[in-house]
Amino acid sequence: MIHGRAAFDSGELLHGDCLDVLPALEAEGVRFDLAYVDPPFNTGKVHSARVAGGARDAGSPAYDDSWGGLDGFLSMLEPRLAALKALAAAEASVWIHLDYRTVHDTKVLADRVFGRAAFAGEVVWVPGNGARRRIGPSVTHQTILIYAPSGVMTWNADDAALREPYADTSLRMHFGNEDADGRRYRERTIGGKTYRYYAESGRRLGSVWSDCPAMRANTPLVKETTGYPTQKPEKLLDRIVRAASNPEGLVLDPMCGSGTTLAAAAKLGRRFLGIDQGELAHGVARERLARLGVTPPAQRAG
Ligand SMILES: C[S@@+](CC[C@H](N)C(=O)[O-])C[C@H]1O[C@@H](n2cnc3c(N)ncnc32)[C@H](O)[C@@H]1O
Repeated sequence: MIHGRAAFDSGELLHGDCLDVLPALEAEGVRFDLAYVDPPFNTGKVHSARVAGGARDAGSPAYDDSWGGLDGFLSMLEPRLAALKALAAAEASVWIHLDYRTVHDTKVLADRVFGRAAFAGEVVWVPGNGARRRIGPSVTHQTILIYAPSGVMTWNADDAALREPYADTSLRMHFGNEDADGRRYRERTIGGKTYRYYAESGRRLGSVWSDCPAMRANTPLVKETTGYPTQKPEKLLDRIVRAASNPEGLVLDPMCGSGTTLAAAAKLGRRFLGIDQGELAHGVARERLARLGVTPPAQRAG
C-alpha cells in the first residue's frame, strides 16, 4: 500500500490502477489542488514505445487502448473520475484531456460525476500536426474539459503563461502611443475610468491554444521526447500548472504516462503525485524525473 506521506514534500510516483490507488490516498487524507487526466483515447490499439530516431520498438508495448467500444471506455473512466473527485481540495480543478472520439460522451459523463455546475470551461488544444484525412472533415484539435468540483478553482489570471501576443493588425491600429521608456501602449476609457494596455504584455489567452506544438508536429521536440507514445508537450502542462495551481500545491496525474505533468510541476515548485499502471510508463517517468534531479521514493503501491 501507500506509505510515507512525507514524500509529498516533493513528489511521488505510484504504480498501479488509479482506481485502486486513489481510495487509499483518500483514506490517508491526501488532497490535490490540480489534477490533469490524460486517459487512453479509445483508439482501439495497443500503443508502443518508440526508440530514438522514431522507429517502432515492437517489444515495448506501452498500454492497451482497446475497450470493446465506447461503452467499455466510458465504463472504465467513470469510476476513476469519481474516485478522483473524492480527493479534490477546496479550490481544486480537474482537467480531462480527450479527442473527438470520446470527448462529447465524456462531457456528459463528467457532468454526472462532478455535477453540471462544476463544469468550468474547456481548452481546445491545436497540436499543429495538420490534417490527414482526404475523405470528410479532419479534426485537428483535442479538447481538455475543466471541472471545479467545489464550484471555485484556482485561476492565476495574471500569469504570463496566460497571455498571448496581440494580433499584428491590432498592434498597428491601436498601439500608436509610446511611454517614456519606449513601450507601446493603448488606452481605453470604460465607465469613466481609463485603462492602459501595453503591447509587450499581450492579451489574455482565450480557450484555443495553438502555441504548444505536439511532440511530432512541424518542429519536433527532440530534447523532450522520451519515446513514450502519446507523450504531451511540457509547454502545455507548464501552462496548466501555472494557471490552476500555486507553489507547493499538489498536482496529481492519475494516468501519468511518461511523467510530463510531474516534470512540469517539479520545475514550477509544486508537489506532484503520479500514478500509472504500466511498467514502461513507470520506468520512463522515473528516469525523466531523475534527470531533473528529483528521485521519488521507491515503488510504494501494492
Ligand atoms: C495518454 S497516456 C498518458 C500520457 C502522458 N500524459 C504523457 O505525457 O506521457 C495514458 C496513460 O494512462 C495509463 N493508464 C490507463 N489506464 C490506467 C489506470 N486505470 N490507472 C493508471 N494508469 C492508467 C496508461 O498506462 C498510459 O500511460
